[in-house]
Amino acid sequence: MGQRRFGRAMEAVREYRASRTIPEDLHGRGGMDEMLAQITDGLDKMFAILDHSEYKARAAPVQVRTLDMVVSEKMAICVDENVVGLTFRRADGADVPPWRAGSHLDVELPSGRRRQYSLCGDPRETDAYSIAVRLVPDGGGGSVEMHALEVGDRVSITGPRNAFPFVASGSALFVAGGIGMTAIIPMIRKAREVGMDWHLVYSGRTTESMPFLDEVSTWEQDRVTVRTDAVDGLPGAADLLRDAPDGGSVYCCGPPPMIAVVREGITATSATRLHYERFSAPPVVAGESFSVELARTGTVVDVASDETALDAVRRVRPGVPYSCRQGFCGTCKVRVLAGVPEHRDRRLSDDERADHMLICVSRSAGEQLTLDL
Ligand code: FES
Repeated sequence: MGQRRFGRAMEAVREYRASRTIPEDLHGRGGMDEMLAQITDGLDKMFAILDHSEYKARAAPVQVRTLDMVVSEKMAICVDENVVGLTFRRADGADVPPWRAGSHLDVELPSGRRRQYSLCGDPRETDAYSIAVRLVPDGGGGSVEMHALEVGDRVSITGPRNAFPFVASGSALFVAGGIGMTAIIPMIRKAREVGMDWHLVYSGRTTESMPFLDEVSTWEQDRVTVRTDAVDGLPGAADLLRDAPDGGSVYCCGPPPMIAVVREGITATSATRLHYERFSAPPVVAGESFSVELARTGTVVDVASDETALDAVRRVRPGVPYSCRQGFCGTCKVRVLAGVPEHRDRRLSDDERADHMLICVSRSAGEQLTLDL
């Protein structure tokens, strides 16, 4: 067992050195997780000496682990923003696979939609997963369906997977925006548990719209900054990164504008690592317009320079599958029948890219693509 673990750890380290990301523990084994955390933290510090780098996790490798779950609790977490907390337990009553701070679940809804939600419960709870979901009435329908779930309803989940891993050592600044707090809150609980030097900047529209403020108010208030757009205005880099630790890490989860501000501002700080996770699609950068032909109907849709092919296709095919909208889950993978894609994902292998694309992020190198849709 020791040799096998060591071999896997070294393999993971090699992957880390190649990609400069922290690999997840695919099997959720606590001992292995801690071991990798220490190794990768050491590498973090080594790389930090070399440069002032930005870290973004690549997609976790595919792991097929689907569980039948039952909704065991449902509660309002934040009435103003209409955030509900949902707790799932296995239908067979067994324990759930372990997870670490930063992990998320893929939830398959009764309609077939798949959506990803950060785990926000306690990893020491071995028989349940908890998530929080903000209602987006004019979104893709996933949150509406999630809010309609009631205690006793069944769903399938896949995971947990971790594309936003947290290393519980050293010093850290956490920057959370609104519902982004769901990914951050288990990290801070862990940071407090192990005695890390940490600070939090938690930003939202109003205090009434910000989930988990009750718990945040029980933490060391000299480490916490809560700011609202209503009182303080939209935060800038100086507001969000004032407590960025010298030689430490910044973990950020929030809306795309917040991530953009932090990414731009981090270079002016002495923090050495930025880890971030979006909870919605990033803006299209340097996009050219093109058109997409849906081969099964012959319908042609125009994709504007500032929108994704997925958004354009959804205008005529609202049920087209998608989930993360960030190019890492693979749900929107489509066969390309003609044209040359410009791949912008972090998921597909070179072989897959020969005849497939992820339409949530990838675009066209030419004027038109024909897709097997
Ligand atoms: S929706 Fe996740 S990769 Fe496109």
